[in-house]
Amino acid sequence: QQQELIRNFSIIAHIDHGKSTLADRILEYTGALSNREKQDQYLDTMDLERERGITIKLQSVRLPYKAKDGKEYIINLIDTPGHVDFAYEVSRSLAACEGALLVVDAAQGVEAQTMANVYLALENDLEILPVINKVDLPSAEPERVKEEIEDLIGLDASEAVHASAKEGIGTEEILEQIVEKVPPPSGDPDSPLKALIYDSIYDSYRGVITYIRVVDGSIRKGMKVRMMATGKEFEVTDVGVFTPKPVSKDELAVGEVGFMVASIKDVKVTRVGDTITDANHPASEPLPGYRKINPMVFCGMYPVDSGDYDDLREALEKLELNDASLRYEPETSGALGFGFRCGFLGLLHMEVIQERIEREYNIPLITTAPSVVYKVYKTDGELLEIENPTLMPPQQQIDHVEEPFVRATMMVPNDFVGAVMELCQSKRGEYVDMQYLDANRVNIVYELPLAEIVYDFFDQLKSGTKGYASFDYELSGYKTSDLVKMDILLNGEPVDALSFIVHKERAYYRGRQLVEKLKKLIPRQMFEVPVQAAIGNKVVARETIRAQRKNVLAKCYGGDISRKRKLLEKQKEGKKRMKAVGNVEVPQEAFMAVLQMD
Ligand code: GTP
Repeated sequence: QQQELIRNFSIIAHIDHGKSTLADRILEYTGALSNREKQDQYLDTMDLERERGITIKLQSVRLPYKAKDGKEYIINLIDTPGHVDFAYEVSRSLAACEGALLVVDAAQGVEAQTMANVYLALENDLEILPVINKVDLPSAEPERVKEEIEDLIGLDASEAVHASAKEGIGTEEILEQIVEKVPPPSGDPDSPLKALIYDSIYDSYRGVITYIRVVDGSIRKGMKVRMMATGKEFEVTDVGVFTPKPVSKDELAVGEVGFMVASIKDVKVTRVGDTITDANHPASEPLPGYRKINPMVFCGMYPVDSGDYDDLREALEKLELNDASLRYEPETSGALGFGFRCGFLGLLHMEVIQERIEREYNIPLITTAPSVVYKVYKTDGELLEIENPTLMPPQQQIDHVEEPFVRATMMVPNDFVGAVMELCQSKRGEYVDMQYLDANRVNIVYELPLAEIVYDFFDQLKSGTKGYASFDYELSGYKTSDLVKMDILLNGEPVDALSFIVHKERAYYRGRQLVEKLKKLIPRQMFEVPVQAAIGNKVVARETIRAQRKNVLAKCYGGDISRKRKLLEKQKEGKKRMKAVGNVEVPQEAFMAVLQMD
């Protein structure tokens, strides 16, 4: 029976341990990737992903594999995104599998994301197969890494494959282990349909393409289906598998992985984690684990040229079609004009969207510093969720404010324990736990305000540990904090887009630092510009940007036209990212300055 011959698995790894390279080897070995089609890393499709070497959109490939036992297996490799921002998507694609390859770099050993991914795999009851990759490296220590896997994760690593994805060593052994050790799907072919949505993308010709794993029953063309969380119903127009090219089939049977198309116009109705069922014979219960995910980080996005506003809205509309976790709504700023407040899963997600708008849609943006969502309890009993610091009510109306905290896990070599603890302490961290993993490495756990991580925490962690620290975090909840809103005034006028929320104890220091930084970033104008930081009516810091003395062109004597033109062009170039705030020209960097302090 076919179900017995299906194996569904993913690859989990810390970033750069070789997940994509190994996936390529497996595709090659099973013949799914003819040399002509071969691109460097097939599973990462978007250019931006390729450039950054990260996986954002999940995909799957169906691979035929004739094992040593003589049977023809169908092996489905389900790709997972590789960054903490996308933890929920990772957990849902793991939920579509029975097994996972745990790839660990033979020189680097276990790292923070290795652990985080293992926990997600264990939550989903997966059979985990350790693979020690990069054994070709002179610095490889496979035996030490095996011990680490046993000690830290508690997995039996005695049969871990020694592999080099780069040199194609170990690929067959990995496939054999998948066939032997990963259980076949256990679903019931005769129960009502239950299919897990683990991703969906928008295609301009076909509408939404939903990536699914059939858990019970089967799904066929022409069937009427219902999304259990959103309640929306559709007629299935196509189902199929990726080989990796999409190939239509009449049905996807129990245990199979593939796609469904049903003239759906909006990815928001096909939410990751939702269950698709037969509208005529619905399942009584959806699959477990569905969660509606909310953005954690918000920022304002404004076109540099206000004439680009409609284009920016269109760009966001298009991006949203493909990204169920992107949120945006129109917002007006006194300083920046008309724009949007956008919500993201995390910082990386935010950067990716910003870059795509600028690169693919060609719209220069001014973005404001990211903010988290604060819960403001007012004295009159009202609860506000504030995602834009400008909207903070006056201090006298506030009873207390809560901010989101994360549980952050950092793995570092011994030598840097002091530096990491100092950093966490300076970011208002609360110590939770510390574990010596072996003679040389320590796992440190802190509760930290998300707002501090949104700033430059990761950069500081990396530089404070010479790049050795690995880092992972998850939201742990809201806690009361003593927070105030800091306003920045230019030329006596408050600039809403520069307001930020800060812990009271650090307010003076931050205010001082920011005005100093702004003084450096804002070019001299024709007149003197005072820069002030204020809490309520109280000014806590002040600097002055002195007036400009000379016109740039004064330097060009005589009629050297081409030089003059060059200078003017250069000036124009520089102005691209300037925004006139009142009568002061403010560069983009100024709006992000609050992120680069300490
Ligand atoms: P992300 O996509 O960023 O999560 O990384 P990844 O885990 O997919 O790693 P990727 O496959 O991109 O490999 C990271 C780097 O390690 C690349 O430069 C690879 O060429 C290299 N690499 C992968 N496997 C091996 C191996 O077996 N040996 C050696 N020496 N290098 C390898």
